Amino acid sequence: MLAARIMGVLILAFVAMPACSEGETTPKSATTPVPAEFQPGEAKFNANCSGCHGTGGMGTKQGPALVHKIYEPNHHGDAAFQRAAANGVRAHHWEFGNMPKIDTVTPDDVDQITKYVRWLQKQAGIF
Ligand code: HEC
Repeated sequence: MLAARIMGVLILAFVAMPACSEGETTPKSATTPVPAEFQPGEAKFNANCSGCHGTGGMGTKQGPALVHKIYEPNHHGDAAFQRAAANGVRAHHWEFGNMPKIDTVTPDDVDQITKYVRWLQKQAGIF
């Protein structure tokens, strides 16, 4: 009985898998235009964050790329973005130095910025 249920779950998982990976393998070039819903976040990112984190979140000499595996949602959830902007970040992953707190953004701004960065990460196939 239990074995039959486990089999059922396994079969379901196998049936569901190809559907998932099909979606993920759809090629998306880096030049995909930013969808309208992420453009406010893009503008705020460019105004407040890209000086260090780079255009398109690709990093600069002042700060790391946020389009990077270690900043995917499971490692650095959306709360980490809020904390970074509100309190700054003590250098711990890299050799760029500390990130200062960013006074020019509100939590709402950071929310929009985070959504834009998540979109960039998705485009790059990071998650
Ligand atoms: C003056 C440069 C600078 C600016 C401007 C800047 N950052 Fe950073 N940021 C850094 C550096 C450097 C690190 C990496 C610190 C480390 O882990 O070594 C960092 C790390 C982060 C992290 C990872 C935090 C963690 O918990 O490890 C997030 C998220 C982040 N920044 C978001 C932002 C956002 C959002 C903005 C704009 C509102 C922004 N940063 C603006 C320099 C900057």
